[in-house]
Amino acid sequence: MNAGKLYGLGIGPGDPELLTLKAHRILTSVPVIAYPTLENGKVLARAIVADFIRPNQIEIPMPLPFSVERSSQPHYDIAAEKIALHLSAGRDVAVLCEGEPMLYGTFMYLFKRLAPRFPTEVVPGISSTMASAAMLGAPITFRNDVLSIMPATLDAQTLRDRLAGVDAAVIIKLGRHFAKVRTILDELGLLNRALYIERATQPNQRIVAITKIDPAEVPYWSLILIPSQTQPQ
Ligand SMILES: C[S@@+](CC[C@H](N)C(=O)[O-])C[C@H]1O[C@@H](n2cnc3c(N)ncnc32)[C@H](O)[C@@H]1O
Repeated sequence: MNAGKLYGLGIGPGDPELLTLKAHRILTSVPVIAYPTLENGKVLARAIVADFIRPNQIEIPMPLPFSVERSSQPHYDIAAEKIALHLSAGRDVAVLCEGEPMLYGTFMYLFKRLAPRFPTEVVPGISSTMASAAMLGAPITFRNDVLSIMPATLDAQTLRDRLAGVDAAVIIKLGRHFAKVRTILDELGLLNRALYIERATQPNQRIVAITKIDPAEVPYWSLILIPSQTQPQ
């Protein structure tokens, strides 16, 4: 029997209409769908495509931590083996990946474990970083500008070093790290350029002036965009 195919399915930042035609075709035709479920409020993938999932599709909720600590490795091992059982039985499995699978995605841990063993295809998705620029109406880069994407989880000194002198930047994984980031942006004179958005493209999307944000209220699904200062002619 031929093994099933593993799909890493990029499903975009939240608006179901931002699924690609390819992601929609695969999502609605595979017999098995897997998606992460751990950490309250941090699970978005299934909700994005809930209207497209059919009752006869097998679902594998995967309790995956959003961390790379050694203690989280067994979660990925277990999830990978659950998926491997279906693949070995000849069933295709689509793993739902919020945004773009290969950009800070939990899918990469499954990819590393399963791609060497089974036929695998990654379907690119619209990343929250790109969708946010569109929602904010903020062109990110022009001409020779360099775009830096970085997680707010970096320690303060590293973040400061990385942000100093950027042409344009996107800072993801804000949540409880917001206050640290805001202080650094202030120190670097970047606060007046920084744009904040949460839940981009979702029904409850919120765009608020960064100086008006209560750090205690910042959700995981938020980011800061610092657009380039270069102007097109
Ligand atoms: C683990 S990363 C995954 C990124 C994802 N693979 C992508 O391409 O968008 C999660 C971070 O992406 C950002 N993010 C994802 N979706 C978002 C959205 N709809 N609005 C704002 N930020 C979002 C947040 O900063 C969040 O903490």
